[in-house]
Amino acid sequence: AVPGDIAGRVVRWQRSHGRQGLPWQDTRDPYRVWLSEIMLQQTQVAVVLGYYERFLLRFPDVRALAAAPLDDVLGLWSGLGYYSRARNLHRCAQQVVEQHGGRFPASAAALDTLPGIGRSTAAAIAAFCFGERVAILDGNVKRVLARALAFGDDLAAGAAQRALWDRAGELVPRDGADMPAYTQGLMDLGATVCLVREPSCLLCPLESECLARREGRPDSYPVRTRK
Ligand code: ADE
Repeated sequence: AVPGDIAGRVVRWQRSHGRQGLPWQDTRDPYRVWLSEIMLQQTQVAVVLGYYERFLLRFPDVRALAAAPLDDVLGLWSGLGYYSRARNLHRCAQQVVEQHGGRFPASAAALDTLPGIGRSTAAAIAAFCFGERVAILDGNVKRVLARALAFGDDLAAGAAQRALWDRAGELVPRDGADMPAYTQGLMDLGATVCLVREPSCLLCPLESECLARREGRPDSYPVRTRK
């Protein structure tokens, strides 16, 4: 059974206790949101802030990025690491210009086909920019949902991953909900409350719903065998 009103709890908590005022949160420009999500994939917010500002000054829109030499992009990326992200960023910008007329496609399914944009990042961009009612499931959110649902299948298995995506989809709020706040709220819970070790359950808006907490062992989820 799906516990009660998880989405509503996440939305209300995000508005009062989630991360606010970040520069990519006050825009619905897919270029800016996309850039921030790629940077945030493996890098902390505090580090991303400066890179994000410098990147936008040099490449204010997707056409400017697509037209730039790859070396310029890699130069501005220098220090962020995971340089395949920068190469994919450049390729993605070129595809958006050449195949989509310079406008990012406005659905998660279409965004998911672009270089460097996986299923969860595509969904995040679509939720933030277009309010699409679609599930995200990055590493942090897997932990939040596996715990809330006491999802006991081993996430090393593809079938378990698919099952958790299905469960994540069932939790997406109905029409009219604040999808940006819901999406950001799940990310923020994973980053600030539902920590890998010693989660702060007493601060969590899902405390009364969380099935892993009810079992008394939230940090035993998600189940993942070592490979
Ligand atoms: N990590 C990935 N996306 C993020 C976002 N929108 N805010 C904070 N951290 C993130």
